[in-house]
Amino acid sequence: IKKITTHQIQGMKERGEKISMLTAYDYSMAKLIDGAGVDIILVGDSASNVMAGHETTLPITLDQMIYHASSVIRAVDRSFVVVDIPFGSYQGNSSEALRSAIRIMKESGAHAVKMEGGAEIKESITRVLSAGVPVMGHLGLTPQSIYKFGTYAVRAKEEEEAEKLISDAKLLEECGCFGIVLEKIPAELAKRVSEQIKIPTIGIGAGPHTDGQVLVMHDMLGITAEFKPRFLRQYAQVGDIVNEAVANYVKDVKSGDFPNEKESY
Ligand code: KIV
Ligand code: NA
Repeated sequence: IKKITTHQIQGMKERGEKISMLTAYDYSMAKLIDGAGVDIILVGDSASNVMAGHETTLPITLDQMIYHASSVIRAVDRSFVVVDIPFGSYQGNSSEALRSAIRIMKESGAHAVKMEGGAEIKESITRVLSAGVPVMGHLGLTPQSIYKFGTYAVRAKEEEEAEKLISDAKLLEECGCFGIVLEKIPAELAKRVSEQIKIPTIGIGAGPHTDGQVLVMHDMLGITAEFKPRFLRQYAQVGDIVNEAVANYVKDVKSGDFPNEKESY
């Protein structure tokens, strides 16, 4: 199996082939997702929400991200694996950013890292890139800044924030990022950004004109069934399947139907 590289991801944008990206946090699901042919697996700090049950992405630690990432890496044959550097592990200064990125790369075997923000974290991004670690940017509704925004509403609807987002996207391209996630911004703005930079944009709640799409796996599988923002398409109702299977198991244990003779030694 041919492994996906940043070079191939860039080629997809140049050919107009859309890039598919999905999150994973553990070995078993990463194996399924890689086998199903997704181009990029994101070990997102959304693990803080869907794996650990926190309300935000802020509490997850670098050690916990490395644990998730190494589990995913052991499963993957083809996909390109990007790992979020968590809140508090890169914003402070570029040395800390480099140290965090190197720990992720060395201890998990990941292929790249992702960091939230533009001009504010330029030094950190540059330092990590100069060590040879591919960096993906992330602009728009960046969840590590949720307490600054105070709301999960669409970002950059006003001209000032839109202009800042465009200049940040250009900056990330100049720095040498291999791609940028655009989260929850108007489709027209995402289109403008995608046309004005040569590196691929990957959208979530950013409309159809980005160079690729990303979703949180548990959301698109219908595991986090109560989370239904407008941008989400649910491709299965896995929550219902699990619920029914477990209820049937409980019923069979209670009734003594399980295990039967063939299931016994
Ligand atoms: O952590 C995550 O899942 C993400 C995606 C939503 C882009 O950053
Ligand atoms: Na994230």
